[in-house]
Amino acid sequence: MLKASMLNVEIGPATIVRDGSFEVKTGQMVGLIGANGAGKTTCLRTIMGFISPVSGQITFDHFELTKTPAHQRAKLGIGYMPEDRRLVPSQTVEENILTSVWSVGIPDWQDRLAWIYRLMPEVEALRERPATSISGGQQKLVALARALMLGNKLLLLDEPSEGIAPVLARRISDILTDMKAEGVSVLIAESNTQHCDGLLDRMFVIERGAISEKRLSWTGPDPLGQEPDGHSSRV
Ligand SMILES: Nc1ncnc2c1ncn2[C@@H]1O[C@H](COP(=O)(O)OP(=O)(O)OP(=O)(O)O)[C@@H](O)[C@H]1O
Ligand SMILES: [Mg+2]
Repeated sequence: MLKASMLNVEIGPATIVRDGSFEVKTGQMVGLIGANGAGKTTCLRTIMGFISPVSGQITFDHFELTKTPAHQRAKLGIGYMPEDRRLVPSQTVEENILTSVWSVGIPDWQDRLAWIYRLMPEVEALRERPATSISGGQQKLVALARALMLGNKLLLLDEPSEGIAPVLARRISDILTDMKAEGVSVLIAESNTQHCDGLLDRMFVIERGAISEKRLSWTGPDPLGQEPDGHSSRV
């Protein structure tokens, strides 16, 4: 569904992502795990089209994203939760969640909103509140709800559990578990797997812009097709 191949991204004179390849298949939750400054946000912003790669391809379904104009991309069903929450302070929680409805046009937005409120009843309880009157952790939940409004096919989450109280981080893990059960595809950037442990179907590690797939201990055969005993599982 989403596939990045040999992606090279430069910011100014520096190469930030180097020959990066990763993919998210339909219904999968995939981790992009790396330390501060490794290039996670740069990868997500490149998928969103905020940064143009110097070379490489990003395909989503049948679209070559790097060649798809912004107004078409917005209709592809990709939702983005940035690492800073970027809520509009003058708007209520619900107005923030509905931003994409007005800018892109989502015909079934009422059904989607009801679905999001089922996943996150605590956000529905805050719907009339000004975005600035709620806690930083609650704002993260609202940013997740806003991303879900547009992201009916794929969600890109940038450190959803970063900087919030442990109880809220656990709540976000539970919401992600429910989302996964509903078949939402997710690429989640985190500095470690503490909060997404056990949820991930695949994991890519990014180190100073170099991306490699790491075998997960909690899933089946490894991505290279090697069974634990060394036999290939490929047919
Ligand atoms: N606008 C920019 N101008 C200059 N350098 C940048 C810019 N954005 C990112 N970088 C550099 O690119 C590298 C990767 O940054 P990026 O934000 O993608 O990392 P990250 O993995 O998301 O880190 P963090 O965990 O801190 O969010 C860093 O060295 C950073 O300093
Ligand atoms: Mg980042």
